[in-house]
Amino acid sequence: MSLHIHTRLVHPDGPAAQHRPTVAPVYLSSTFDQESATAFGEYDYSRSGNPTRSVLESQIAALEGGGRSFAFASGVAAIAAVTRLLKPGEEILAANDLYGGTQRIFSTILPDRGVDVRYCAASNADRFLGQASFQTRLVYLEPVGNPMLTVYDVRAIVEAARRREILVAVDNTLLSPLNLRPLDLGADIVIHSATKYLGGHSDVTAGVVTVRKESLAEHLYRTQNGEGSALPPFDCYQLERGLRTLALRLERQQENATKIAQFIQAHGGLRQVRYPTLTGHPGREILAREGCTGGGAVVCFETGCVETSKRLIEALRLFSIRVSFGTVSSSASLPFYMSHASVPQQERDRHGLPQDLVRLSVGIEHIDDLIADLSRALDIAGVPGRTPATLIEPKDHPLSIEASSKGEEAAA
Ligand SMILES: Cc1ncc(COP(=O)(O)O)c(C=O)c1O
Repeated sequence: MSLHIHTRLVHPDGPAAQHRPTVAPVYLSSTFDQESATAFGEYDYSRSGNPTRSVLESQIAALEGGGRSFAFASGVAAIAAVTRLLKPGEEILAANDLYGGTQRIFSTILPDRGVDVRYCAASNADRFLGQASFQTRLVYLEPVGNPMLTVYDVRAIVEAARRREILVAVDNTLLSPLNLRPLDLGADIVIHSATKYLGGHSDVTAGVVTVRKESLAEHLYRTQNGEGSALPPFDCYQLERGLRTLALRLERQQENATKIAQFIQAHGGLRQVRYPTLTGHPGREILAREGCTGGGAVVCFETGCVETSKRLIEALRLFSIRVSFGTVSSSASLPFYMSHASVPQQERDRHGLPQDLVRLSVGIEHIDDLIADLSRALDIAGVPGRTPATLIEPKDHPLSIEASSKGEEAAA
């Protein structure tokens, strides 16, 4: 029976288990007994294969619309496994707007292996691919870049790369596979930091990679098994548990994020309000053409002054200051000083990462509370707006932000 992915997420496939458990059992066993020295069962050693990991990997493959998935110990472990495809002398052509940890792999690990990375503007696919050389083996991009939320045209980039027989890897963490499936647009490899939306509860660090070509699957399996970077069984269970509510969480988070982006835009005191599906975002049409169904839950803006941005995020109470994004509780960060601090200054400048950029990750809290919190923090940070700060009245909701200070919350 062909199931909608929302249904499939709560009915995972898995190895037949005794006692018909509703939830797939967690196989913590590192080894599996064999009938004889030469008779191997489906599983023999957990680094090479584990039933709990199989359940998770088959769920991820279903989310991505087919192929084979591999679960890794973190998002960066997943990215590192993909870079293992390149041999010394080969090159990656990367879009400018990328997560800082990816740039750190590219600038501090790959050069020692003789792999070069060239960053280029990727807004025009042909011009972007025009920067490829005979050594370019892989194009690397995030369809919505972290943290500037630049939208790239995956389909056009894939077509231009295909003409040159270059593989395309897409880190789709910021959108999630429920919104966009890069493999359907022709990408060869799709990566997620599952620490974000897929896990969704800030309690598991994980990464996943999905491919359709068997040759790529064999390569990834060789790396996962050979380097021992697979996600451990209990973490697989945690992640699979998170996946079951992905559709519900994401729907609420996106609804909230859209309202927050609209609120900030209407406030009028902030610059460059960025949310991929917000009216006026330059990437909105590209996403619509690609059949993208939502913009994720990250909203960015600039205040015009680093000190103001700092004051603003420190004045927030519901949005805690945190490096990550995508989970059920809201957070705020200054990417220049946090998630992208490890990127060499020269590269940050070249990519035009503004020091005052504020990145909000929007959770599933009640929207009125979130807007009241933002509104209050904007007042404290001294950001005058066009609209009254009391745009939305929070007091009908049980969580009163006036009731506790951040210090008290931290002490609890
Ligand atoms: C877009 C993106 N890709 C990959 C990663 C790395 O994931 P992890 O932190 O799970 O290693 C991150 C982390 O923030 C990210 O934002």
